[in-house]
Amino acid sequence: MQTIKLNNGISMPQLGFGVFQVPDPAECERVVTEALELGYRSLDTAAAYLNEEAVGRTIRNSGLPREELFITTKLWIQDAGEASARQAFERSLKRLDLDYLDLYLIHQPFGDYYGAWRAMEALNQEGQVRAIGVSNFYPDRLLDLIQHNQIVPAVNQVEVHPFFQRREDQAFMRQQGVQIESWGPFAEGRNNLFSDPNLTRIAQAHGKTVAQVVLRWLLQRDVVVIPKSVRHERLAENLNVFDFELTPAEMDTIAAMDTGKSLFFDHRDAEAVRRLGQVRLNI
Ligand SMILES: NC(=O)c1ccc[n+]([C@@H]2O[C@H](COP(=O)([O-])OP(=O)(O)OC[C@H]3O[C@@H](n4cnc5c(N)ncnc54)[C@H](OP(=O)(O)O)[C@@H]3O)[C@@H](O)[C@H]2O)c1
Repeated sequence: MQTIKLNNGISMPQLGFGVFQVPDPAECERVVTEALELGYRSLDTAAAYLNEEAVGRTIRNSGLPREELFITTKLWIQDAGEASARQAFERSLKRLDLDYLDLYLIHQPFGDYYGAWRAMEALNQEGQVRAIGVSNFYPDRLLDLIQHNQIVPAVNQVEVHPFFQRREDQAFMRQQGVQIESWGPFAEGRNNLFSDPNLTRIAQAHGKTVAQVVLRWLLQRDVVVIPKSVRHERLAENLNVFDFELTPAEMDTIAAMDTGKSLFFDHRDAEAVRRLGQVRLNI
């Protein structure tokens, strides 16, 4: 698996498997088992996905050596704060049945995430998590966090897909040494992504699918990707993206699809802040 080196020297697979919206434990175990059998080694979960236990059981049952895996989970807003973030980390680790984590992310830039970051810096220094990072941070919040703390986030996981490409944000992150990671690489199928005429034409030229073209485009932009699917054939398809290359002209065609706007919600929008801030996990 192709890897990317993070700012603290550790390697992260550039393609992994995200398990958002797979809350049923049996379904989650089935799909993660299939993903590991197919060769995925990086798994992206979160306390808020309510499937850390199922992911942990599957890892344990897979028999794979721990050091072959790269496991990410995320801290939810209600647990922001120095003491509560440490407790939340310990609960996540226990649910995942792991001794250490590879990457721990602040899921949303809300609440006392500065306190959370201090706890995460300590966890990183203690060796309980190999890298720490954030998610859904726009450049202003990212820079503020960097300026007033010790450790620069290794990763910022943000919405990136052909309709919202984040090229300027990526350039900014690169300057700061922060690796961009895409969530929603297919925009969860919105805007008819899978039947888009430009993407379809490029896919046909390579004998590939639209999904594969989108992942390839992200990989060539040095973005880490974690596509989600619950279907075996799509899991295999999404992994099979290392044997072709998009031309500069094809990269330009996709670049022209950018609308510069989120297809989900803007984390700087007051209504989104209110709505997400009210989500309480019962775990
Ligand atoms: N940090 C955050 O705030 C945040 C937010 C959202 C997501 N994430 C992470 O990012 C991961 C990926 O994002 P996402 O799940 O939101 O969306 P996504 O990967 O863009 O899209 C998933 C959708 O695409 C379909 N799909 C997958 N592969 C396909 C293929 N080869 N052909 C056709 N359809 C395909 C899936 O359907 P089937 O499952 O039916 O195949 C599913 O409906 C998540 O699982 C999660 O780990 C993070």
